[in-house]
Amino acid sequence: MSLRKEIVERLLKQDILVEPEVVDYIISHGGLSYLPEFIEKYGELGVVSASYLERKKEEKQGEKPVEKSVFTKPEAEEYDWDFKLLMDFGEMKVRGSGVEDFRNMFLDRYNRLARILRGHHQLRGHVDISKISRGEVKLIGMVDEVRITSKGSLIFSLEDPTGKVDCYSPEASFLLNDEVVGIIGTYNENTQRVYVKEIIRPGIPLLRRKRGIPENISAVIISDTHIGSKMFLEKRWKKFLGWLKEGKGDAATVKYLIIGGDLVDGIGIYPNQEEELEVLDIYKQYEIFATYLEELPDYIKVIMIPGNHDIVRNTEPQPPLPAEIQKLFNGNVESLPNPAIFAIHGYKFLMYHGTSLNDLVEMIPGMSYEKIGEIMKYMLEMRHLVPTYGGKVSLAPLPRDFLTVDVVPDVFITGHVHAFSYQKYKGIHLINASCWQAQTKYQKMMNFNPDPGKVGLLNFHTDELKILSF
Ligand SMILES: [Fe+2]
Repeated sequence: MSLRKEIVERLLKQDILVEPEVVDYIISHGGLSYLPEFIEKYGELGVVSASYLERKKEEKQGEKPVEKSVFTKPEAEEYDWDFKLLMDFGEMKVRGSGVEDFRNMFLDRYNRLARILRGHHQLRGHVDISKISRGEVKLIGMVDEVRITSKGSLIFSLEDPTGKVDCYSPEASFLLNDEVVGIIGTYNENTQRVYVKEIIRPGIPLLRRKRGIPENISAVIISDTHIGSKMFLEKRWKKFLGWLKEGKGDAATVKYLIIGGDLVDGIGIYPNQEEELEVLDIYKQYEIFATYLEELPDYIKVIMIPGNHDIVRNTEPQPPLPAEIQKLFNGNVESLPNPAIFAIHGYKFLMYHGTSLNDLVEMIPGMSYEKIGEIMKYMLEMRHLVPTYGGKVSLAPLPRDFLTVDVVPDVFITGHVHAFSYQKYKGIHLINASCWQAQTKYQKMMNFNPDPGKVGLLNFHTDELKILSF
């Protein structure tokens, strides 16, 4: 094996990717004997590029990066966009809404989640439900008919494509209908029931690699602009736009603006909404929104999805904005479906407007609107954005279930509840983005206080999130 190849392979074993120029650098520093030192110095990065090493060298020599004067360009302008869509949403058109269409969608959900569960070592040796026999069993199935006994135990049925079985769990805290889980338990032939010892959710692996790219660029994350509402916070919004336009300080690093849906307030979304609308024509609402985005510096790319107030269908997944609306926006705007999965500079983003959060606040014990981050964790562990069908979210019966979380993201964004929360979970940035609308009468009636004007600034170089307020 050549020296170059050996260096690359040894680094790959340590989960480190290097550019060819970096291999030259290693060879010039002693080749294989230099590897331990190199791994210690740069191994945490995961990906080592030549430009990163160059910068490190400059810093070492005391040649600190030149302070930018007020006349220099914002740093973000110096780099190219690196945006990739990681999904094919061509199949989002609804073709039928019969029982068979829903059955196919749930079968697709089962297959996708069962595939993940089959990878769990604890479930090795699992059997089809039709082949269940006395003694210890391991099964993978979809949960249904969950009931709680007076003693707090769970009774539910578990179904796979081959059959269905009743289960009893004295210890599980909760399960939602339609969740796909693995169970380990004992089957009793007399009662024809599985006594469940352990429930295993599809789950998310812990990220061990350190993230961060050499370029000092950021994305700002917002949601729920609600243009057209009388409660739209125009002053605060303009302050935010002004900050982006000025491009100083943190704003100089902003290369992307990410918006989590409810771009406009829409019409007829809730009872008597027209009393709270400043702009009664939904097309005008989008025109105003497009005019605002037009003001942004042309090096900022906008990535946005629709929400339940937007002009697309109400059933999820929602397709991107229709062509007649998209043409209002300039070429810097990417209009994606809800949910959307995409990558920016190698960071994988999962963005979902978050309509199911209202259901999950009520369905998961101990949750509240102050604990949206906890709910987002459950969505990831369940690997589904709308784990239960039959709540407030209507599903479009497509042959492919777009709401399963197939790809483990680096960043998971929701909006919808007009609050703001941020936390890191197993290395994933969980952001529930805030809004630009003050409390509506409807929210007042529901006793809900929004937290508007908060912005998440995610820096791809430091891998850190700053919370800004406008
Ligand atoms: Fe909203």
